[in-house]
Amino acid sequence: MADDADSNALDQVASPGQDIKYSLYQASDATEMTSLLGEAFTQFDPPAVAAGLTPSEFEEFVRLFCPQAANQGLTIVARAVETGEMCGALLTEDSASAPPDGIDLLSAKCNPVFDILGQLDEEYRSGQAVHPGASIHLFLLGVAQPFAGKGIAQQLVSECLANGTRKGFSMAVTEATNKTSQHVFRKQGFVDRVRRSYGDYRFDGQATFASIADQGGPILMDKRLHRSDGGGDLGRS
Ligand SMILES: CC(C)(COP(=O)(O)OP(=O)(O)OC[C@H]1O[C@@H](n2cnc3c(N)ncnc32)[C@H](O)[C@@H]1OP(=O)(O)O)[C@@H](O)C(=O)NCCC(=O)NCCS
Repeated sequence: MADDADSNALDQVASPGQDIKYSLYQASDATEMTSLLGEAFTQFDPPAVAAGLTPSEFEEFVRLFCPQAANQGLTIVARAVETGEMCGALLTEDSASAPPDGIDLLSAKCNPVFDILGQLDEEYRSGQAVHPGASIHLFLLGVAQPFAGKGIAQQLVSECLANGTRKGFSMAVTEATNKTSQHVFRKQGFVDRVRRSYGDYRFDGQATFASIADQGGPILMDKRLHRSDGGGDLGRS
């Protein structure tokens, strides 16, 4: 767990009810982060719920990205100052990162989720290569249920963008899979680029996401990063 003197600490922000500390992810955060994201996504992220993913299946997926998260220094975690409990995380990678080893061994239930999000990425990239150090991919954003609705997701995104900007990245990309996350990212300046419809989507001829058609569909959004956004109240020199 990160302590106050830790050089990975980014900022401490008062959310209604309690103070929250934001830090760069470290290897020692792995267990708590995988558990938090596994629970948040399998309970509340519509495609993960529709695909029937269990917390342990989702955790297996998250665990594959933990070594890279520790190496790249782009992932942000939020903790309640009073208890030290992790209350949110935003797993982020360099968009040029190769898929981690073992991704092909995950539950087949992941395949429709990978497919619909992969379609967004393919259309967005339209065959263009992504170069290391150019773009950050804000990948898995989760907030523990007792801490929901306090602005923690907004602050995780803001800290992540400031950190990526300080590290020299010039673009941020995300695939927002539900109306709440789409609202969060738009509020942070992201712009819609590519959409798919859960209602229209078919995987092997099956309407896999028909039950979540009311969520519209996933949207790939991006935001250009400017050097002047890397500091502000939250940035370190
Ligand atoms: C999405 C998630 C990260 C949001 O976390 P949070 O800390 O509660 O979010 P915040 O409090 O920062 O902001 C939520 C915003 O969404 C708004 N919102 C809530 N429900 C909404 C809905 N159905 N449609 C649109 N906006 C909604 C809130 O009003 C708030 O906006 P405001 O600040 O303008 O009032 C959290 O619900 C979660 O972990 N969900 C499960 C995992 C997931 O879906 N991750 C995103 C996948 S891309």
